[in-house]
Amino acid sequence: MWQIAVDSQVLDANSSYAYLLWCRDFGATSVVAEIDGDIAGFVTGYLRPDAPEVVFVWQVAVNHAFRGRGVGVAMLDHLVNCAAEQGISILETTVSPDNEASVAMFASLARRRGARMSRESLFAPEDFPDGHEPEDLYRISPLGNSGDHITEDHR
Ligand SMILES: CC(C)(COP(=O)(O)OP(=O)(O)OC[C@H]1O[C@@H](n2cnc3c(N)ncnc32)[C@H](O)[C@@H]1OP(=O)(O)O)[C@@H](O)C(=O)NCCC(=O)NCCS
Repeated sequence: MWQIAVDSQVLDANSSYAYLLWCRDFGATSVVAEIDGDIAGFVTGYLRPDAPEVVFVWQVAVNHAFRGRGVGVAMLDHLVNCAAEQGISILETTVSPDNEASVAMFASLARRRGARMSRESLFAPEDFPDGHEPEDLYRISPLGNSGDHITEDHR
């Protein structure tokens, strides 16, 4: 996970120790995809302490060699299926405005679930101490519907 985050050259790469701790404590809301013995991608997520009906997706990354094959959205779909079984109805994530691939992936997830996706500003550049890009908050709900059915009217 750490290596994929570093190699992405897009994500904030946390320390390797942070990923180990993450898997120990938040493994139930995180996903690792393995293809033919290779780690193809990962998702880190957590339930918001003040809003336990919300799963927050922190990082999603797919190894360059496996991109464009549906791995990213499949990992999210898996996470959402597990979350929906536990009564979690909302997915939140943040995306920088210039990350078209990430926005397309979350829009694809919303379409697959027949869910709505909304966007609002969460963190502005001046909120960060290090010149970080802004982060927009995307909210996808309801998560309850099964992924096979696509309803354009509910995008
Ligand atoms: C974003 C990322 C995880 C997508 O993973 P992926 O496995 O290639 O995505 P998928 O194949 O599952 O594609 C899902 C949808 O997004 C679209 N998409 C994927 N990459 C795209 C791109 N570069 N430009 C436009 N659309 C793109 C696909 O066409 C697909 O849409 P569809 O279902 O309507 O056909 C991957 O590009 C990545 O690791 N990027 C670097 C890290 C990052 O930016 N993470 C997100 C922020 S946390």
